[in-house]
Amino acid sequence: MAGRIPQSFIDDLVARTDIVEIINARVPLKRKGKEYMACCPFHNEKTPSFTVSEAKQFYHCFGCGAHGTALGFLMEYDNLEFVDAVEELASIYNLEVPREQGAQTRRDDKQPLFDALAQANTLYQQQLKQSDRAVAYLKQRGLTGEIARHYQLGYAPDGWDFLTSKLSGKTRELAATGMLVKKDSGGFYDRFRDRIMFPITNRRGKVIGFGGRILDKGEPKYLNSPENALFHKGLEVYGLFEAKKANRELQRIVVVEGYMDVVALAQFGIRYAVASLGTATTKEQIQGIFRATQQIVFCYDGDQAGRKAAWRALQNTLEVIRDGQHARFLFLPDGEDPDSLVRKEGREAFETRLDKATSLSDFLFEQLMRQCDMATLEGRAKLAELCTPMLNKMPDSLFRDMLFDKLSEHTHVAVDKLRGKTAQTSAVQKTTVTPDIAAAHSGKSSATRDAITLLLQYPGFANDCDIPDAFGSCDIQGYTLLSRLVNTIKQACITSPQVLVEHWRNEPDFDIVNKLLQRTVQGADDIATARSVYIDSVRAMQKKYNDLRFEYLQNKLQTQGQGSLSETEMQEYKTLISH
Ligand code: UTP
Ligand code: MN
Repeated sequence: MAGRIPQSFIDDLVARTDIVEIINARVPLKRKGKEYMACCPFHNEKTPSFTVSEAKQFYHCFGCGAHGTALGFLMEYDNLEFVDAVEELASIYNLEVPREQGAQTRRDDKQPLFDALAQANTLYQQQLKQSDRAVAYLKQRGLTGEIARHYQLGYAPDGWDFLTSKLSGKTRELAATGMLVKKDSGGFYDRFRDRIMFPITNRRGKVIGFGGRILDKGEPKYLNSPENALFHKGLEVYGLFEAKKANRELQRIVVVEGYMDVVALAQFGIRYAVASLGTATTKEQIQGIFRATQQIVFCYDGDQAGRKAAWRALQNTLEVIRDGQHARFLFLPDGEDPDSLVRKEGREAFETRLDKATSLSDFLFEQLMRQCDMATLEGRAKLAELCTPMLNKMPDSLFRDMLFDKLSEHTHVAVDKLRGKTAQTSAVQKTTVTPDIAAAHSGKSSATRDAITLLLQYPGFANDCDIPDAFGSCDIQGYTLLSRLVNTIKQACITSPQVLVEHWRNEPDFDIVNKLLQRTVQGADDIATARSVYIDSVRAMQKKYNDLRFEYLQNKLQTQGQGSLSETEMQEYKTLISH
């Protein structure tokens, strides 16, 4: 089996890559000032908001928020896993990908797991054809062979060792993905037995898990793959890949609860439903769906539980929704689910319901105003109190401005007062002094953001200005990140932004790094001015650190007395005073 690809090769490959060239070969770009533009390949649009920066070697769509490096673009656009994207990039430059000698497959290499699940999936589909009982069940639920094939439905036969006997060389992979369960007495048994199998695919169409429905009555009705290296419930939705396969340009996507709902809607020609896999729809799921469409219709039961689930979906949507994206809410009549309703009413009536679904803004204000007596001053104040924090969590957008306008209309409070009020209260919260310096000062200092942005853009700055050691271990937001970036740049001799970003791919703050690289720092137009802004920003960070440290030490001294400072702390305090 292939060994690990040396990091140095990836670094060199990424460094020589020109993102403009890579993207232009797939999506023709037009030059506009310092950047290149096109209609975004990741969402539907008529006016271009997809930009590619040659300087940052980074793409970013202002419409849907898609962003990344050249490697990231290949992964998204060509539906490739990381290693495959590296191979693809290498082949563009006619390079052979070296593999480390003797090394086994990378321990985190997921390919064998994907392979095992793909094989299980094929076996289950074959078994379906051979089981009259399973076929009869699907027929009785109104499904045709065409839809069963589109969703790759299968059947896991009864018995404890179907997979172990058919895929005897794959025990490790099958156990790692939860297809096999370990017996107390040693050995393994099949998790899924005598069930209709719904393969769950990732964005690239690869199987990452299964849902299995019992044919007759019994518990549990549905069994799901456990979370594993490939399958993270909060990140995936069932049916998204299949919806995109049916139609690349999705006008809208309906979010429903169950596997059967997705498949039954497709059976009736509504081939754009996805299911959120049993949990509340998460922010990540919503972002994933918004990359495929501009409009989401959340579909829930009309009962108490359904409304609660819808409210959670609304809260999560607010945090990620951008201009041009829309969300609606459809509540179903009592006792119906999308499967039963579409069967009863047919496609047209169901789609009419979707067309008329409640808009996000109506649902938001309806729900909140239900809790407030709008005839009174107190009631309107309560509405402002409930609503403002929600709007403050939204990314900056025209839509957010409009919701503030609406809130102002309902409360009779001027918009800037609504916005100003919350800014003030959070400022008060932030200056509370806590024992650990700056735990409470988690505010986003623009100096910190500027320093990190510029360092990402010009990694060479790491050698132009030293970072105090204290940054690496202090708890002010962003300080350790800056320090880690500087260390990585020095250790790996990184000179280009894309190599630095690729080093962060598996770090928990990969997203933050991506977002910061997208920023533009005012007054840093060329490398010389950028360098001086960087150095000034680091100085400002140092000053803030000193101020907070001083504040902390002085506070400790005043509240706990002379003896509370250690010798080094006292020394530090004196040095800080003299500055
Ligand atoms: P429902 O119980 O509403 O089932 O569960 P359904 O989708 O209407 O299925 P049918 O029509 O009876 O076949 C909705 C979803 O909740 C999760 C599954 O994802 C299911 O599709 N669920 C439900 C489980 O994970 N386990 C269960 O035991 C039940
Ligand atoms: Mn159902």
